[in-house]
Amino acid sequence: MNKELNEIIKNLFNIETNAKILISNRPDLCDYQYNGTFELAKNLHQNPYEIGEKIVEKLNTNEEALKKFSKIECVRPGFINFTLTDTYINEQLNKMTSVNKFNITLPKQETIVIDYGGANVAKPLHVGHLRPAIVGESIKRLLKYMNQNVIADVHLGDYGLQIGQVIYGLKQENITPSEITLEILSDLYPKISGLCKENESIKEICASITKDLQDGHVEYQAYFKEILEISKKDIKKMYDYLGVSFDLWLGESNAYPYILDVKNSLEKEKILKTSEGAKVVVVRKENDKIEVPPLIFQKSNGAYLYGTTDLATLFQREKDYHPNKVLYVADSRQSMHFTQVFRVAKKIEETKNIDCEFLGLGTINGKDNKPFKTRAGNTPKLEELFSETKTIFLNNENHNTEYDNSDLEKIVGSIIKFADLQNNREKEYIFDIEKFSKTTGKTGPYILYTYVRTKKIIQNNETFVDNLSKTIYNVHDRGLRLKILELDEILNYAFKTRMPSVIANYLYEICVLVNAFYENNHINNLEDHEKKRDWVTLLSLTLDIIKDLLEILVMEIPSKM
Ligand code: ARG
Repeated sequence: MNKELNEIIKNLFNIETNAKILISNRPDLCDYQYNGTFELAKNLHQNPYEIGEKIVEKLNTNEEALKKFSKIECVRPGFINFTLTDTYINEQLNKMTSVNKFNITLPKQETIVIDYGGANVAKPLHVGHLRPAIVGESIKRLLKYMNQNVIADVHLGDYGLQIGQVIYGLKQENITPSEITLEILSDLYPKISGLCKENESIKEICASITKDLQDGHVEYQAYFKEILEISKKDIKKMYDYLGVSFDLWLGESNAYPYILDVKNSLEKEKILKTSEGAKVVVVRKENDKIEVPPLIFQKSNGAYLYGTTDLATLFQREKDYHPNKVLYVADSRQSMHFTQVFRVAKKIEETKNIDCEFLGLGTINGKDNKPFKTRAGNTPKLEELFSETKTIFLNNENHNTEYDNSDLEKIVGSIIKFADLQNNREKEYIFDIEKFSKTTGKTGPYILYTYVRTKKIIQNNETFVDNLSKTIYNVHDRGLRLKILELDEILNYAFKTRMPSVIANYLYEICVLVNAFYENNHINNLEDHEKKRDWVTLLSLTLDIIKDLLEILVMEIPSKM
């Protein structure tokens, strides 16, 4: 309807607008609302109510509008209220039931590489690793749902200083590659990285081990292979637990064979400059509001850095997949790094047509609003966090359900994932397990509980599901139906903005309305068969939608709640 509204405004007032009819916040009065009259009134120096009246007059002779709405009126001080016809609402819902993926509009298909997870090999996994995994996985699932050709790459941090540090430590303690274990690695990394902070010369040794490793040093390569193998297994275990999966298990080290190609291309474009012995690419722009430093391609000691591997990885992705887009899901604090990389990529023939997007993430904070710590004061390891969450959930309320372990894991997963995904990914959020584990409020358990309860109601009322009749029976019924009609817009908006939070919040709204629906509409004892069939049909459609949205949000459904 926005289009028609724009045309009417153009014809009446000769103004180009981007009119938007919004969901009404007074569902007792109308279904949708247009508030743009106030803005128009300012520009035209006229009274908003009179403007509204003029628009309504036109709308009420518009064929599209007449088909959809039973009432369009202007109310003081100038809002335009729209009420859909029951027939129109039910026709749309019937289409949603009968067409694949609820009849949503699917965007043009593209090939998209999505780079997320990004755990660093040989470092212990902690809470900070949750967000890039969960948000990335959810965006990947959303892209797939929206019919995109998606390739997910974990892009492990596997060739940085931490590897040199661990190799140094292993050699100090006379541990051979075949003797390395996960425990040894998790003890070693914090120890040596601490040492490097205190002792500059040890840090230099570690840096030179890293450099030699990158140059193919045979002994270091043997260490590296073992470290990678062991650490990858551990990382995989965590991602499996979270339901996070990748098509490619590549890392920074896999990009090395492409560095020479990048170098040649940079030289061809004559953009590789020498600065204090290092090779850099200047990426600053005239109108930059903040200083954008040059990307360092190669340090004066010959070592390559994070920017180099990201460019080389882009070459590799282009060669293997010709992607239209590459999305990077990582901590917002890496935004400058990606600005530099993307700007260099735009200057190179091979990569200039790839659309690169950085999808930044805010931090996960504790109740003190500082990065999350355990009660003991350290950054919690993920396994501890999972078991703590389980305990809190079980202690939280008087559960009258006995959960088996697999259901409990699904619930713990949903607590952690829904806690994260309901927040705008760019913003930090406070991790409050107590709050997130409750079965009421905006929590994973509440959503799962709603799903399981709805399913039970449908099962208890086995009537065959059919097209909806033309009737809508009351305000709770209407509210749920209207909410479901928003699905198309919600999915497309979340897709465009790469924001799983849009879906999480919508899912929560649906759940609130479903709960209100069955608290007020008792289906079980209904005598009226048509009504019963309509409501079971409506709940079935709702349940199917919840199921798909849960899938996009990486949440698994337990057998009972
Ligand atoms: N390993 C990096 C880190 O822990 C994240 C990787 C993000 N992806 C990328 N292509 N740079 O910060």
